[in-house]
Amino acid sequence: MPGLHINNVSKSFGAVQVLRDIELSIGKGEFLVLLGESGCGKSTLLRLISGLELEHEGAIRIAGRDVTHLDPKDRDIAMVFQSYALYPHMSVFDNIAFGMRIRKTGRDAIKAEVDRVAAILKLDQHLDRKPGQLSGGQRQRVAIGRAMVRHPALFLFDEPLSNLDAKLRAEMRTEFKRIHKVLGATIAYVTHDQIEAMTLADKIVLLNGGRIEQLGTPDQLYSQPDTLFAARFIGTPEINALRVRVEPAAGGYAARASGRVLPLPASVARRPITAPREAILGVRPEFLTIGATEAGIVTSGHVVELCEPMGSETSVELSFSDQSLRLRVPGLHHLETGGEQSITWDFSNAHLFDTDTGAHL
Ligand SMILES: Nc1ncnc2c1ncn2[C@@H]1O[C@H](COP(=O)(O)OP(=O)(O)OP(=O)(O)O)[C@@H](O)[C@H]1O
Ligand SMILES: [Mg+2]
Repeated sequence: MPGLHINNVSKSFGAVQVLRDIELSIGKGEFLVLLGESGCGKSTLLRLISGLELEHEGAIRIAGRDVTHLDPKDRDIAMVFQSYALYPHMSVFDNIAFGMRIRKTGRDAIKAEVDRVAAILKLDQHLDRKPGQLSGGQRQRVAIGRAMVRHPALFLFDEPLSNLDAKLRAEMRTEFKRIHKVLGATIAYVTHDQIEAMTLADKIVLLNGGRIEQLGTPDQLYSQPDTLFAARFIGTPEINALRVRVEPAAGGYAARASGRVLPLPASVARRPITAPREAILGVRPEFLTIGATEAGIVTSGHVVELCEPMGSETSVELSFSDQSLRLRVPGLHHLETGGEQSITWDFSNAHLFDTDTGAHL
């Protein structure tokens, strides 16, 4: 059963095209995350789905129904924006019940529905309070509660956690995951936070300048990036992108960089590379370890440029001739800046990209 289908949608504001040939679909009950940097068109796409913006090319279907020319109120959607407005003089109960009162829902039905939603959102102890007496996260949940009492075919969220502090964000992320499971709701959710995208999404659509850069599961974006842009967008610290010269070699390829030779498995390229060429070698920081270990390729003589112990892991920057390497090492380490270290490389999830286009080779 289809949840949302966006068919060849493009959008321009005057002469400026902000969305180009967007084609994607998710099933009923799936959690779609629209991810990308500021200005890439996430909110615009969400506004097109909602019907707040009616002028565009292409078609939009929600739960199998063509809604392209329908007003927001006829699309069977519920929206929560980054800047949600609660009624300050109304209690939490009345804020959540507001829409149902407008629709003249009966008193008992309203009470049952608010109680149900409040229990899921852990607001049941706060129903008599005014928004001013709530924490930021609790207010956020009231806004979500107002959307939930609607039982829409599709929920739309635009950066709903962006004005919360780090701890609350993490809590609400977990909450969202739980709510999605409990309700089995179809959700389109905008964020520029890749961790939110990775943890919440069934499917991520990564936008870049109004185009789909990659559409896939979180695992696919992490392990099988189609482009260097996608590889860089997912993962912290960012994937290492080393300028290398590759040539075919026994068992795969040899990558030369600044006098060093790294043996790469054939899996680093999607199509065989038959002649020597320049490329970008992408290796995630968590696939490098400090020191020589038995499995993997070892290189030595890397100067420590930066060491940032963060508790459960340590982020280290090392020299790689004239380039730099970022490592993420489990545990607490204090490596002396300027000292030399060896590295073990795991190339099992490494990638080669075209130097000019960034496309996966
Ligand atoms: N009403 C409008 N008129 C003209 N240009 C607009 C309008 N709305 C958005 N834009 C432009 O369209 C592009 C996409 O904007 P959009 O708000 O969708 O980005 P976004 O991905 O949501 O960014 P952010 O992460 O900063 O919220 C931007 O360049 C923006 O300036
Ligand atoms: Mg936006």
